[in-house]
Order: sequence, then structure tokens, then C-alpha cells
Amino acid sequence: MRIEFELNGEKRVKNADPCKRLVDFLREDMGLTGTKEGCGEGECGACTVVLDGRAVHSCLVLAGQIKGKRLLTVEGLSRGGELSPLQRTFIDHGAIQCGYCTPGMLMSAAALLIENPSPTEDDVRISLAGNICRCGDYSAIVDAVLDAAETYRKEGGFHV
Ligand code: FES
Ligand code: FES
Repeated sequence: MRIEFELNGEKRVKNADPCKRLVDFLREDMGLTGTKEGCGEGECGACTVVLDGRAVHSCLVLAGQIKGKRLLTVEGLSRGGELSPLQRTFIDHGAIQCGYCTPGMLMSAAALLIENPSPTEDDVRISLAGNICRCGDYSAIVDAVLDAAETYRKEGGFHV
């Protein structure tokens, strides 16, 4: 199936099996291995990407379902080779340990900041509730997102 979609701000066309899971399509067909698979069944959030502005589990979405949609993956966060404010604050707050959950955390946070530029701590915790970090320092992750939100507000809102 010919799949036309927008990937990290660029129009893309790819022939692929429409029944392939989006996480596999990204990693195998598009060569974007930043998106991770953990549980494979919608429980851990490691595979989170942003589809038309909403966080989705790419292990539960099929490649054919992205046709005509806007997809943002962790690779799309950086700006011309520079880390985005969101990525930078994760580093600054020590919110990355093994890093396996980090792409999913970043993308859930991105979806939150697209919808709500001024989240409260509770808003952040709720938006990340579906993302599991087995290394466990959730407070640093929440602080990183709140800090990034402030930076994006100064820049006029979340953008990539
Ligand atoms: S791999 Fe998709 S939610 Fe865990
Ligand atoms: S940093 Fe290791 S799973 Fe989150």
C-alpha cells in the first residue's frame, strides 16, 4: 500500500504493508530507531509517538492508519542538529538514566505541551501516567517537563 503522510514536518510517501505495526514501520521501513518497543501491548509507553497532535502507542497503531496524518517522532524534536528545550531539560534535570523510556516520555510530554502550554505538575503527571520508567526517578522527569514548558512559553509555544 502506498502510504502518504507527514513525518517530522516533511511529506513522505512509502510503500509498505498497511497491517504492519507503526513501531515496526518506523524502525524497519523508515530507519527511525529512536522509537522503542517495550511491552508491545500498550502498557509501557516506550513506543509513544505523536499522531495529529496526540500521543499514541505505536505498537497499537497500524502503518495504514497514518495515511494523510502528521506524525512526530523523537527524531523530529531536535532543531537542525541542536537538542530541543525538552531534550535539554531532561539532561539538565538528570531525567535520563538507562534512557530506554526516554523517547516515549519525550513524546508524551510533547503531546501535552502542544495541547497545554502551561501545565501544572498534576497535568504533567497525568500525561505521563502511561509511560513507565523502570529506573524510576519520575520526579526529575516531571521537573524537566515543567522547565521545558517555561522555555517554550518564552518562545511563543511548543514547536519543532
Ligand atoms: S511497546 Fe507500546 S506501549 Fe509498550
Ligand atoms: S531511564 Fe531507564 S527506563 Fe526510564
